[in-house]
Amino acid sequence: MASLVLRLLTVTIFLSAPAALAATLAAAVTPVVKSTTSYGVLSNPGLTRDSCSSSLWNNNVLWVCRDTEQLNSAGNPVLPLVVNTASYSSMPNAPSNPQPLSLTSPQGFGSPFYPLESDECPTSGACSDGTRWVGWPDTGPVVTFRGSGGNTNAYAFISRNHLSGLSQINTPSYSLYHLLSQSSGPMPSVSLAVSSFWSSSQIGYGSAASVVMNGYAYLYGATPDGKLALARAAQTGFLGALDDKSLYEYYVNGAWTRTAPSRTASNIALPNTSSAQGTIYWSPKWNSYVWIGGDGFPNANFFISTAPNPEGPWTAATRFYTGTVGNGSLGAYSTVAHPSLTDGTGNYVFITWTRTNKNSAGVEVYDQPLVRVDWQ
Ligand SMILES: *[C@@H]1O[C@H](CO)[C@@H](O)[C@H](O)[C@H]1NC(C)=O
Ligand SMILES: *[C@@H]1O[C@H](CO)[C@@H](O)[C@H](O)[C@H]1NC(C)=O
Repeated sequence: MASLVLRLLTVTIFLSAPAALAATLAAAVTPVVKSTTSYGVLSNPGLTRDSCSSSLWNNNVLWVCRDTEQLNSAGNPVLPLVVNTASYSSMPNAPSNPQPLSLTSPQGFGSPFYPLESDECPTSGACSDGTRWVGWPDTGPVVTFRGSGGNTNAYAFISRNHLSGLSQINTPSYSLYHLLSQSSGPMPSVSLAVSSFWSSSQIGYGSAASVVMNGYAYLYGATPDGKLALARAAQTGFLGALDDKSLYEYYVNGAWTRTAPSRTASNIALPNTSSAQGTIYWSPKWNSYVWIGGDGFPNANFFISTAPNPEGPWTAATRFYTGTVGNGSLGAYSTVAHPSLTDGTGNYVFITWTRTNKNSAGVEVYDQPLVRVDWQ
């Protein structure tokens, strides 16, 4: 009997050790940069586009970018403007031989990767009254299933932004898109799964950042006061489906609840988080969740924060890198990380930002520097 109790105790201790270890180790994480390596700018042959984010997609990396135009032979952008496009890339070279990473041309240029909805002035988003709907992704799709033979299942939460000039004239709701690859090679098929999955009075969970861990998809959205709020969806549906609200829980007042809060609830913002554009991932090196992001336009300042759990506690963010800004009107923005470009160790991470530069004709074109950051 005594030995059975002892065995049970041992088993219990063994099973709970990783979580306890994570909490202990993560509290002590102090990321320190060992070296940085410039990989030039992302290569988008024949295109100018901004704000590319990425997700690991079986043997490829899937990139989804915002506004995209083709370049003519003089290197000047030509209309039409497509609100989002997608590409694949391979993994970057080793830092001993850094080369620009090539994003292969988008899914047939012309229609958006995430289609605009019928009330969003499709297909360009430009309405006859001069306003514009944009489907600008802030983060890569949430991959919930990777199978053999290239099968990949994923979701994206896209805000329904209505603009007049660059000013937003609505409080957006957020639609859920479904991405599916049945084989490696062709671009995934994309369809609107649920229009306004999150209403305009709710947080756009999953639109700011996500991480799939421990049997859950953890989905972050911006709060009105510029922090992050968190929901999680149990990965128990078919291929980790995210379209079933009964699988969702919401982090409110320090506990998980089944009732979605209002976006203006005072007790949903996670302390020390920021909704400035960024990326969240799990680092095996630090046994810790990691946020990497910026402090917003027009800077290319990169900050890092860590937490033992997706809900926190998050450390105060510290600056670890400052990139060069462009000489056009948009100095720098969309400071994101690409944990998709990984060997799985967490020993390094790639970051990008977007800027505009004036070309030789004085016309502004986007570019996106790619930098590898190795940690001590
Ligand atoms: C947030 O950051 C402050 C430092 O600015 C720190 O004292 C505090 O412990 C952090 N909060 C959490 C929950 O880690
Ligand atoms: C702006 O930056 C681009 C890219 O570095 C460079 O080719 C161009 O000459 C610069 N233009 C001006 C006016 O500084």
